[in-house]
This record gives sequence, C-alpha cells and structure tokens, in this order.
Amino acid sequence: MRMVDIIVKKRDGKILTKEEISFFVKGYVNGSIPDYQVSALAMAILFRGMTKEEITVLTDLMMHSGDIIDLSSIKGVKADKHSTGGVGDKTSLVLGPMVAACGVKVAKMSGRGLGHTGGTLDKMEAIPGMKIAIPEEQFMRQVNEVGLAIVGQTGHLVPADKKLYSLRDVTGTVESIPLIASSVMSKKLASGSDTILLDVKFGSGAFMKDLQSARELARTMVDIGDGLNRDTRAILTDMEQPLGLAVGNALEVKEAIATLHGKGPHDLVELCLEAGAIMLEQAKVVKDLKTGRQMLEKAIADGSAFNKLKEMVRAQGGDVSFIENPEKFPLARHIVEIRAEEEGYVRRIEALEIGESAMRLGAGRETYDDVIDMSAGIVLAKKVGDFVKAGDVLCVVHTNKNDFAAILEDIRQAFKLSKEKLAPLPIVHDYIR
Ligand code: URA
Repeated sequence: MRMVDIIVKKRDGKILTKEEISFFVKGYVNGSIPDYQVSALAMAILFRGMTKEEITVLTDLMMHSGDIIDLSSIKGVKADKHSTGGVGDKTSLVLGPMVAACGVKVAKMSGRGLGHTGGTLDKMEAIPGMKIAIPEEQFMRQVNEVGLAIVGQTGHLVPADKKLYSLRDVTGTVESIPLIASSVMSKKLASGSDTILLDVKFGSGAFMKDLQSARELARTMVDIGDGLNRDTRAILTDMEQPLGLAVGNALEVKEAIATLHGKGPHDLVELCLEAGAIMLEQAKVVKDLKTGRQMLEKAIADGSAFNKLKEMVRAQGGDVSFIENPEKFPLARHIVEIRAEEEGYVRRIEALEIGESAMRLGAGRETYDDVIDMSAGIVLAKKVGDFVKAGDVLCVVHTNKNDFAAILEDIRQAFKLSKEKLAPLPIVHDYIR
C-alpha cells in the first residue's frame, strides 16, 4: 500500500477502507509516513469529507494508538464533559465541583489553550502550587476520595491526535468535521469515563462558525460515542460573545469561585445548570433534568460545590487560601477601563477579537513556548442586549505589557452597538442525544 494512492483516492472523493485508514494512522504514529503526506490527506479530508463509517474507523484507530485509561477501580459512574473550545470558557472549573458535589465521579483530562481559546489546565495553573500532572495511582485515589480530579492528558494517550492536531494547527485543516470529531472522541473514549457530554460551541469565538455545522459536528460525535457503547450527548452553545464576563486565567478562576458562591454571570450559571443536569441524568443520579437542576442549585446554595473545588485544589497541591480569599491573586500592573463613546444596546461582542486581544495582553500563547501571564485578560462590564450610556464602562483590561494602545482599540472595536433594543442571546440552543 502507498500513502500517495490513499491521498489521491480521498482527493477524488472516494471512500477509504479500514485497511487504508489504519495504514495511515499507524504509519504516521510510527514515523514511516511524513508530515507532508499527512497534511495533504488532511486537506483532502477537509474538502471531501468522510462517511460515518470512515469517521468511526478513524476514531477507533486513533483511540487505540496509545494507552486506554482503565477507570474501573473507581467506584460509581464516571462522567466526563468536553468543550470544543471557546473564549472565557471556565465551565469545567464550576461544573466539575457542582456535579461531584451531587455524588458523580468526575475524572477529567483537560487541555491547554489553543489559539484564541483558553484551556482549563492553564487556568488551574493560575492557582499557586496546583499540579496538573499527577501519578495515575494518585489520580485514581483522588477521584475515589474527593470525587473530582482535573489533570493533563498523559503522554501516551492518543499519540495519533497529538501529532495530527499540531499538524492541522499549522496547515489550515482544523475546521473539518471528521477531523474534529475523531480528535475529540478518540481522546474522550481513551480517557475511560462511562458517560460523555459534549459542549459544542458555535459562533465567532468557536471553530464551528454557525449553528448548522455545530449541529452536524455534535451529531457525528454522538453517533461515534453511541456506536462504541458510550452514553454520549451534546449541547450546542453560543460562542458569539465570550462566556461569562472574565477572559484570562486568574480572572476566570475568580469568576468560577464567585459562581460557586452563587454570584456567577447568568449565561455561565445557566450553562452549568443545563450541562450539569444532563450529566446527573446520564449518571442515573436523577430521573429527569428538572430534578438535576434543583440538586445542582442546592449544591451551590449549601456551599458543597464550593467545598468540592477546595478539596480538589488541596488534593492537587494548590494553595487553598487563594480559593478562600480570591483577592490574593496578584493583579496586573495596568488596569484600564474602556468606555462607550455613544449610547445604545450592545448588539455584538466579537468573541474571536476578545480572545485574540486577551492572548496579546499576555493571557495566551502566541507561540508554543510563550509563558502565560496569569493576571492578564479582559473583564466585560456589559453583555449582548445590555443598554449603555456614553461614558459607561464596556470592559476592564488587565495587562503587564507596556505597549498596549493598539490592543485597546481592537477591544473597543469588538463591541458593536445598536439603537434598537435586543433580546439577550440564549446560551444553550439545542440538546442532542
Ligand atoms: N478540540 C480537539 O480536541 N480537537 C479538535 O480537532 C478541535 C478541538
């Protein structure tokens, strides 16, 4: 078999066999097939697509390209949740403790920031001392005892995705439904949880720009999970504007803490309640979503969800005093307000622009080795649908960079006002199962 024939076959829109997909996945992981041929195939897949059968075969082969985590020594149902990536998405830091406080085990492997999107691991590292790489034995013990652990992916989990993802990142082949679906699902299936909830984001700050392609991606992933006997469901959520108010690592941790104290922004709270209720239903802790929501609301009101966050931070070596006193997180040297020049209703807050600006302020990596400034970021003061008067604060910018005037202007441009009153955007648009 020759890789060039496989590329040509897909380029011409034909369906690849299991043997051909296996030849390329194995060859890529063992180094016998070079990057340039795999990039050509990825581009052919992006243009020509794959059938459901091809995607399932690709996912299965990627999943088996490395270790498969066995969580069977952890008692009870293990639930996992995955977001396809967004701006201001601190959901895991809120949802993990909420669901764990309701008795479901959350053994979560998260990722780092990618492009303009933030990553849960980077946010966790804003908490001094917090370890995101812990030995497997400790991970299992922590999930059994605390009910919650959020760690980085181990080195041998889905090596095929590790190589393919970095290649796609630099070859314009990220935005392909078969490639995103197999990338996400191979990792989720290899991480061993019993149930998977996918938060598929759409809008300017997401990889999927519209609801229809997000729906197609969600359907594809749910079918893969179901086909491999894992209870998999998805919600389609808005990423036209950032989630919540804070964008940037320590700023988002502070917002997560406030949310666990019952003082979270409406969209974040709503997303966590909807997603959490589905996770409780998947784990069979509740019979319906309404009861799930009530249970989660109680976990916030009685402080048990907040305590779960503290327990996880303590177990992973983090300094709990920062969780108890969030004002201890160091502030950036420059804290600058951006004010509205005219009055109107906020029509859009471009999530992509805000995400990229936060990254340029120091909150994300522009190159692989960049060191993140945990205190940098943007805190919105207004959301879509809010009315602003001229002179009102639109957002507050935090940075340690000295030359940031151009970034401030870009952030200002991300806010689009309208004379007409607008309804606030719903956060969850659909539920797919
Ligand atoms: N997240 C992933 O893990 N993989 C993708 O391809 C896109 C988002």
